[in-house]
Amino acid sequence: MSTPTLDRRVFLAGFGAAGIALTTPALATAKPQVQVLKDPDCGCCGAWINIMQREGFEMEVQNASWETLSQYKATKGIPEEMASCHTGLVEGYVIEGHVPPTDIRRLLAERPDAIGLSVPGMPYGSPGMGPESEREAYSVFLIRKDGTTEVFNRYKAA
Ligand code: CU
Ligand code: CU
Repeated sequence: MSTPTLDRRVFLAGFGAAGIALTTPALATAKPQVQVLKDPDCGCCGAWINIMQREGFEMEVQNASWETLSQYKATKGIPEEMASCHTGLVEGYVIEGHVPPTDIRRLLAERPDAIGLSVPGMPYGSPGMGPESEREAYSVFLIRKDGTTEVFNRYKAA
């Protein structure tokens, strides 16, 4: 019975080496830093932060009172109807709420002349807000510098 164990170990070692070879160059070239301001009592913010970390973003987190947080959102140019829980900053862009990591990557690749992205409110099934399998439909909005918004991406209900 020792042979299957040995085979498994060899297989895992090989798999691990391949994994490192495939992922290291990507991580080394792009690890965007995100500064997040959030309410200390907000659990969903932490869930979003964990997902972002897993997706290769470097997260720097600071807690603030709800009052400080709303003032911060206003100074960053986030219209009230675009507000959510946490506010992130990445490479000069604002990330408001539970924005999916793939949309943030696209923003950083396309670099539009804009304030940033928002997922207003906290839609169920957005990253950090419960299972994707029970997702409600929601949109990611691009906030322009004049305060107008447009749909950047749409997610259908699961
Ligand atoms: Cu939230
Ligand atoms: Cu949050």
